[in-house]
Amino acid sequence: MDLQLADEVAVIVGGARGLGHAIAAAFLAEGTKVAIVDRDAETPAIALDLDRSKASQAAGFIADVTDFTAIQRLAAEIRDRFGRCDHVVFAAAIGSGKFGFPFWKLDPSDWDRVLRVNLIGAANVAHAFAPGMAEARAGTMLFIASVAGQIGSQTDPPYSASKAGVINFAQCAAKDLAPFGVRVNSLCPGMVKTALNRSVFESWAARQPEEGRPAYEDWAAEKIRILVPLGRWQSPEDIAAMAVFLASRKAENITGQTINVDGGYVMHS
Ligand SMILES: NC(=O)c1ccc[n+]([C@@H]2O[C@H](COP(=O)([O-])OP(=O)(O)OC[C@H]3O[C@@H](n4cnc5c(N)ncnc54)[C@H](O)[C@@H]3O)[C@@H](O)[C@H]2O)c1
Repeated sequence: MDLQLADEVAVIVGGARGLGHAIAAAFLAEGTKVAIVDRDAETPAIALDLDRSKASQAAGFIADVTDFTAIQRLAAEIRDRFGRCDHVVFAAAIGSGKFGFPFWKLDPSDWDRVLRVNLIGAANVAHAFAPGMAEARAGTMLFIASVAGQIGSQTDPPYSASKAGVINFAQCAAKDLAPFGVRVNSLCPGMVKTALNRSVFESWAARQPEEGRPAYEDWAAEKIRILVPLGRWQSPEDIAAMAVFLASRKAENITGQTINVDGGYVMHS
């Protein structure tokens, strides 16, 4: 399917690792130019490595999403460098590193950094890029949220609440940007093997007696067996395929939606 994304420009925030990295690779495979923004010091090298054509299709920029001034400066720099900015994907996130069940096992101070990265970071990115997209009267924004943001997940309450906030803000942004022809959606992965997913297991494991504690793979397999109707992991490529589709004109009537790529974990009536 030709998604007609060649020569457009996508900014992938949180694109150095995990799902953001897979999304960056998927855009590059469509011929889209890609700017990766991440706090990871290796981001410029990671972007170069992804750019298999070696034709300056990708560039990496180091910034922390909690720093609005830095993100705003980067938005201008990326426009100068590539001449346009058509698509923005926000894939950066952290967990609290603690395990709930119940939520008061965490400390109120555990909430601050998670909300600042996952929710305020998303708002910072939207504030920095929306004016240019509105002016261009075209483009898409995609927020990578989570099934956890829709189900009152007890696993990591600050993380779940931040994702619910992201979903809600994406709906608000979709309404505000629709008159300018800019579409905004949320994409919710289910279970994907990444550092973030493993950290949930590690937070849980830290609270279990060592004896009889399952390995990550077994713990996840059981969770998937109980919760996921299709009974399978999602792959980074599953998430990336949806991200690229949502950016394309094939999805021109899709905005303000919360799209689950989760093997059927969350179903709405
Ligand atoms: N992996 C899963 O099972 C899963 C499930 C549901 C939702 N998600 C969501 O998918 C997205 C990607 O997660 P992932 O699993 O690939 O995680 P990951 O930890 O592998 O990658 C996250 C990336 O975000 C970057 N990042 C983190 N904090 C940042 C900051 N303050 N500023 C700039 N960059 C920052 C990291 O450096 C990293 O490159 C996240 O929004 C996550 O909540 C993942």
